[in-house]
Amino acid sequence: MENILDWDWFIKKFEVLSKIDLKAYKRPQMERRINSFMRSVSVSDYKSFVDLLNNDKIVYRRFLDHITINVSEFFRNANHWEVLEKEIIPMLLKERNSLKVWSAGCSTGEEPYSLAILFQENGYPLSGSILATDLDDEVLEKAGAGLYSNKAVQGLSPEQLKKYFESQGSYYRAKDELKKIIRFQKHDLLKDPFPRDYDLILCRNVVIYFTEPSKFRLYERFATALRIGGVIFIGSTEQIFQARELNFKSIATFFYQKY
Ligand SMILES: C[S@@+](CC[C@H](N)C(=O)[O-])C[C@H]1O[C@@H](n2cnc3c(N)ncnc32)[C@H](O)[C@@H]1O
Repeated sequence: MENILDWDWFIKKFEVLSKIDLKAYKRPQMERRINSFMRSVSVSDYKSFVDLLNNDKIVYRRFLDHITINVSEFFRNANHWEVLEKEIIPMLLKERNSLKVWSAGCSTGEEPYSLAILFQENGYPLSGSILATDLDDEVLEKAGAGLYSNKAVQGLSPEQLKKYFESQGSYYRAKDELKKIIRFQKHDLLKDPFPRDYDLILCRNVVIYFTEPSKFRLYERFATALRIGGVIFIGSTEQIFQARELNFKSIATFFYQKY
């Protein structure tokens, strides 16, 4: 396959179709994932692949799942959530009566539901609802439905499951009291305007395939979305390399505060 010309052509066509700008993602990783997907549907050139994506909604959906990697968990990396619960939120509440919270790249909702549980269990006050965003309509729909399999709820304690979910066959559905404190919204972190004055932003396991310049621009925009003193909580394989340039200081592993 001739990759150089084809690749540029493909990402333009793909952006028309999906609004996703693949230029902002690391090319080798994306190319590998895309080529492996193309092999799995027995297509060997980008032109035929774009035709297929345009004509077959199921393949298109499977492809989006393949490249955006929507995997999530309740209280993913539980020890970091403990730091959030015991240290970060109490520190933020010393300065504000209630907190504005955003889960950016929330996938199927496990992260914002974990936040909602944590705030409810501790009686921590929220300012408005938890904003939970993703660029993918389908994961947002799943998140809004709040329906999870037995396996998906493993990160929850039996007490949490009983209190905040109702069982439906072998599934569990988030109760309305949890749902009503989360506002799910479509938002592309690379394109859409950012909200302001947040106290706490979670952006975890989203930037893995972003290029270094797009990561930098993203953290720059998170810095504008946080109030001074606000905190960003990132994924367990991530680090903000130019933290000082962005007026972020590391206050615990995976937590940076804007100063
Ligand atoms: C691996 S999931 C992370 C879910 C959750 N934050 C966690 O850590 O469990 C990554 C999510 O980032 C979303 N994503 C990727 N690029 C994005 C972008 N440009 N804007 C918004 N969301 C994006 C994907 O759609 C996917 O749902």
